[in-house]
Amino acid sequence: MIFATIHGERVPALGFGTWHLRGDAGCDAVRYAIDVGYRHIDTAARYENEAEVGRAVARSGLPRSDFFVATKLHYLELDPDQIERRTVEGLERLDMSQVDLLMPHWPSPTYPVGPIMQALREVQKKGYARHIGMSNFPVARMREAASAFGAPLFGNQVEYHPFLDQTAILRELRGEGMLLTACIPLARGAIVGEPVLEDIARAHRRTTAQVTLRWLVQQEGVIAIPKSGQRERIKDNFEIFDFTLTAEEMARIGALRGGRRLVDPDWAPVVWDPPAARPAPVA
Ligand SMILES: NC(=O)c1ccc[n+]([C@@H]2O[C@H](COP(=O)([O-])OP(=O)(O)OC[C@H]3O[C@@H](n4cnc5c(N)ncnc54)[C@H](OP(=O)(O)O)[C@@H]3O)[C@@H](O)[C@H]2O)c1
Repeated sequence: MIFATIHGERVPALGFGTWHLRGDAGCDAVRYAIDVGYRHIDTAARYENEAEVGRAVARSGLPRSDFFVATKLHYLELDPDQIERRTVEGLERLDMSQVDLLMPHWPSPTYPVGPIMQALREVQKKGYARHIGMSNFPVARMREAASAFGAPLFGNQVEYHPFLDQTAILRELRGEGMLLTACIPLARGAIVGEPVLEDIARAHRRTTAQVTLRWLVQQEGVIAIPKSGQRERIKDNFEIFDFTLTAEEMARIGALRGGRRLVDPDWAPVVWDPPAARPAPVA
């Protein structure tokens, strides 16, 4: 495992995404991921599977302190006066007294960022969440959030894969000593068949998914949370710690970056950060 360091603490750089993993099959998938070695698990109120995640963690028999559990408050449940109640409800579903990371799932379409972040700070002070982060916040919102929060934030969970340029957000996060959690890291499977990734995968005798995940966690300040409901892929996606991409390979993948955003719902923030200028192609 590679670890990222945030505010002096080590966080597993490869986590397990759980969107769509519900019911017994969802719980079994998380349980299997734990057997494989994942210790960082990402869930959300909106995924309606916090109970399954909590059950899988409990059934592993491992101490709670072995895990880094992240969850998110529903973007429609960000009334600052209700944030503590929503947080406690999430903890009840997880059957945990504290999460390691709590984020608003999206900037609220209704409430301003400042009071939301102040309410989250109170939740943190009460011990319900060890870290507070953001999800789907463009740079301008990140700055507003950080200034209202008034204490170190964990980072920002945003869509990030080889086809989506996130230079602006990554630069801002690094400057502030925060982490970027790459959600949708496999571009929901669209990485399979991409010629540059296939070429590099062949050279390392790896899959395109492994090369993509390696590319993400090999970047400073980036962690990733791939999801799979299939045992073989859950295991494959974890086997990325015994090879390294060269600087040239990292740059070749980096040069694929563009504006292919897969998740852009009606409630998404307004204006996303524009892509950086395209890098020069690597010879
Ligand atoms: N903050 C947010 O707004 C937000 C948004 C989206 C996602 N997320 C989080 O990020 C996690 C990951 O994102 P995601 O699930 O949308 O997308 P993803 O991890 O990029 O891709 C998951 C998809 O790729 C397939 N897949 C998994 N491993 C593969 C492999 N080795 N080769 C080929 N295909 C593979 C999976 O199918 P199988 O299951 O059939 O293997 C699934 O359809 C989510 O589960 C969630 O925890 C957060």
